[in-house]
Amino acid sequence: MTTTLNTYKTTDFKKLETKGSFTYSAPSNIALVKYWGKKENQIPANPSLSFTLNHCKTITTLQFEPKSEKGISFDLLFEGQPKESFRPKIQKYFERIQDLCPYILDYHFTINTKNTFPHSSGIASSASGMAALSANIIALEKMISTDKKEAYYNEKASLLARLGSGSACRSIKGNIVVWGETESIENSSDLFGVEFPYEVHSIFENYQDTILLVDKGEKQVSSTVGHELMHNHPFAQQRFEQAHENIEQLKAILKSGDLEQFMALVESEALTLHAMMMTSMPYFILMKPNTLEIIQQLWKFRQETKIPVCFTLDAGANVHILYPEKYKKEVQDFIENQLSVYCQNGQFINDEMGFGIMEL
Ligand code: PMV
Repeated sequence: MTTTLNTYKTTDFKKLETKGSFTYSAPSNIALVKYWGKKENQIPANPSLSFTLNHCKTITTLQFEPKSEKGISFDLLFEGQPKESFRPKIQKYFERIQDLCPYILDYHFTINTKNTFPHSSGIASSASGMAALSANIIALEKMISTDKKEAYYNEKASLLARLGSGSACRSIKGNIVVWGETESIENSSDLFGVEFPYEVHSIFENYQDTILLVDKGEKQVSSTVGHELMHNHPFAQQRFEQAHENIEQLKAILKSGDLEQFMALVESEALTLHAMMMTSMPYFILMKPNTLEIIQQLWKFRQETKIPVCFTLDAGANVHILYPEKYKKEVQDFIENQLSVYCQNGQFINDEMGFGIMEL
């Protein structure tokens, strides 16, 4: 059965007469197989697979107050202060979800949001932000509409998050999430992220991700512009096909726990993402000299110690260092002593696998 958007359209709902609020946190996620390129309505050009994080989070309180005239209406606060620069993105989000969630037009919302990490730092703050907001919207839907199964609400939360920011759909539920229809993953969908449904080797339990903040400034290229660059890109088609193949391979690797293969696939994905940006027109180099220094040092450390630690990158200069929990001490000492000098103000964030949204 193919699920269509209409399945997630709420038609039967009541209007609350009193105001109220919810608070949800949602984590960031780190893609191992990268989403880069999209079709209309935030449909991905290729499937992606991510580990959900635990400490890098957005915490969002949504207050709702019934109003008499229908329409999109909200105030936006970031860390308690009005934040005009975030408004257009949220306005667009509400416009995109209003057909699926017509009940939002009955309320004035006050959205109060904060991050546990610097926004636009290459850590996907839009992912955790849109996931946290969508979790709140679905909490409201649960209160006012007819009972649906929990799975439906999770899928719809992910779907709404996707309409805010593609990769946000992978931050709702599960520690390993696949987004984008692909043959090797049963029930995978372009509409929302699904929990990786197969056996995973214990070596990946509580996998560690230390994020090295090489450049905490605003991103040089927004991901919206980045995805656009995949239109008419000379290597786009091969890249999209490769992502399907890499997910299939990763499925086997996650089962076997073969870390040599895991590291090769993950690092190749990261460099491919950057290669796509370097070979688009216009072209961009999003790594900084310190990004490369870190990669060189990491490879040296891996060769000398035989500790299975690898890197991945998002669309920026920061480096995610990935390693099994059992090597936490050695790797974190190495980062502290040898890699932190390449980070802006020596800053890095130790994170690990998490499970998605939480009501607070
Ligand atoms: O969700 P967006 O539109 O910000 O795109 C994110 C793209 C990457 O972070 C580079 C890769 C990914 O799959 O998360």
